[in-house]
Amino acid sequence: MGEHVNDRWPARLHVVTGKGGTGKTTVAAALALGLAEGGRRTLLVEVEGRQGIAQLFEVEPLPYKELRIAEVAGGGEVRALAVDAEEALLEYLDMFYHLGAAGRALRKVGAIDFATTIAPGLRDVLLTGKVKEATTRSHDGHRVYDAVVLDAPPTGRIGRFLNVTAETAKLTKVGPIKTQSEGVASLLRSPITSVHVVTLLEEMPVQETLDAIAELKALNISLGRIIVNGARPALLTAGKVTKAELKRGLAEAGLATDAATVNGLAAEAKAYLTRRDLEESLRGELAESGRPTIELPLLPGGADRAGLDELASELMRA
Ligand SMILES: Nc1ncnc2c1ncn2[C@@H]1O[C@H](COP(=O)(O)OP(=O)(O)O)[C@@H](O)[C@H]1O
Ligand SMILES: [Mg+2]
Repeated sequence: MGEHVNDRWPARLHVVTGKGGTGKTTVAAALALGLAEGGRRTLLVEVEGRQGIAQLFEVEPLPYKELRIAEVAGGGEVRALAVDAEEALLEYLDMFYHLGAAGRALRKVGAIDFATTIAPGLRDVLLTGKVKEATTRSHDGHRVYDAVVLDAPPTGRIGRFLNVTAETAKLTKVGPIKTQSEGVASLLRSPITSVHVVTLLEEMPVQETLDAIAELKALNISLGRIIVNGARPALLTAGKVTKAELKRGLAEAGLATDAATVNGLAAEAKAYLTRRDLEESLRGELAESGRPTIELPLLPGGADRAGLDELASELMRA
């Protein structure tokens, strides 16, 4: 397993964010599949307890364990992990303090009522700390994973989630948590990491994409690409379509040329052209950010394995 998985995707930790519903989980999965081509091993991680990966691959809810969820032609594989903050804390305490049975007892009595008591900053450093551990893990002198892809929180929360040092500095000035958060902070600012933002060509997701890029840039976090998902090919190239042209076209095709048909088609063409113009101006706004952009097609059959493979090859070509 080489140091460079892919010249076009040189990072080893790929963080995928975007406005909710734009296709973060789908794109993260496709990227993990693509990067596993050529006999590589990748890890697809989720941190929000949604079991989005299990749903996408139609498997049982994922435990806190790295399990193979997909094989890739050429001998590659994708493993998946749903990181849970409570499990990550117990694992972490065990590593530093060798809690063993005490840790299990702690869990049993429910001493750590996570959902309600943990400070969000601590929770995030546990989650990102686990991601860092998987990214940097090696076994017998080889990296366990050629690449790790994180299905991350949405754009509205990504800055806070990744800015672990600032958040934990409020909680702890010394000790292992501080050390861990500094390690994560430097990983996220190194070329090992790349944060990609998924968007649709719609106003709100594009605005959130631009906001997230500005926020991450200010935090010095390594930015990757903008991934425009669900892009549709251009149907009409003209600036506008006249009714006379439509009528002529219908007649040539041997179709009805009554006023209702012509008016209906004209309205559809106009709506399409308006949408296309809006999409063009949104593409322009995204381009102004200076980030490299990739477009992924809208899959007519949805995001099944064949669809994911199609997105994976688009990503690897880009
Ligand atoms: N390129 C695509 N073509 C068709 N359907 C897609 C595509 N990308 C995502 N979807 C579908 O859109 C929905 C939202 O995608 P998902 O990855 O779950 O978004 P998110 O994780 O950002 O909330 C899902 O039903 C998914 O199958
Ligand atoms: Mg999701």
